[in-house]
Amino acid sequence: MSRGTALITGTSAGIGHELARCFAADGYHLVLVARRSEALELLATELGTLHGTAVRVEPCDLIEPEAAQQLYDRLTQANVAVDVVVNNAGFGAIGEVHELPLERQLDMLTLNVTALTALTRLFLSGMLERRVGGVLNVASTAGFQPGPRMAVYYASKAYVLSFTEALAEETIGTGLRVSCLCPGPTKTEFGSVSGMDQSKLFRLGTMTARDVAEIGYRGWSSGKVIVIAGFTNRLAVCAVRLLPRWAIRKIVKWLNRRAS
Ligand SMILES: NC(=O)c1ccc[n+]([C@@H]2O[C@H](COP(=O)([O-])OP(=O)(O)OC[C@H]3O[C@@H](n4cnc5c(N)ncnc54)[C@H](OP(=O)(O)O)[C@@H]3O)[C@@H](O)[C@H]2O)c1
Repeated sequence: MSRGTALITGTSAGIGHELARCFAADGYHLVLVARRSEALELLATELGTLHGTAVRVEPCDLIEPEAAQQLYDRLTQANVAVDVVVNNAGFGAIGEVHELPLERQLDMLTLNVTALTALTRLFLSGMLERRVGGVLNVASTAGFQPGPRMAVYYASKAYVLSFTEALAEETIGTGLRVSCLCPGPTKTEFGSVSGMDQSKLFRLGTMTARDVAEIGYRGWSSGKVIVIAGFTNRLAVCAVRLLPRWAIRKIVKWLNRRAS
């Protein structure tokens, strides 16, 4: 008996890959979204064999204009009712604002912010009508403070956190669960894509994608709004709330430097 269908973005690697495993193990059918179709097909086969999950693979570049709308239209035409949207796809880039190419920074905003907002809005009406399911958005502990040397990424995650918290409040009493998963440094392709794997922050230690995904899935299932992955990350977020902003800016700038 299926619990419904979960659409998860960024499932070809990392946290999204593991989130797909969590949803499948708990009885959800899946729509898998990312650019690398072979990785999605492999995961679909694995989950079909292990759990009997019905999986639809939707290779798609969410940076393309209209990608979210086209994905929604394809699924609507195919009569696929999406009950849960997991906006996990995202990337970062280390470097000061003036050093990073403008196009890369704008692409980051398109994926981390615009596509996430579009997919949430497009599928929300159906969920509200059926009064089931919800949204799990992946932000970051980066969302709690400004991030010198990674300014656009941190700002994009602050948006995800704020947007998701507001949506959670708006949907109280509708039967939907809305959560924001905030991982700290996690061992995935994110480190090499962003250049963060060479940073002092990542050298302090990373969590596994599986642990982060399981915490996120449990948090969403139990209706928690903000799900910070791991004790150390929860402690770091507490410190941000206690320390003055000027001190936080200095500390984060130092943590985002290359480790020697
Ligand atoms: N790892 C960390 O330390 C960390 C910490 C805090 C928050 N996060 C957040 O966690 C989320 C998942 O990151 P991760 O660590 O699992 O990174 P990852 O291993 O690099 O995975 C990113 C996923 O997003 C997909 N993706 C990237 N660009 C895309 C595009 N244009 N269109 C569609 N899909 C795209 C990638 O697939 P394709 O390349 O196949 O498209 C991949 O499946 C991100 O939102 C990230 O910001 C990560």
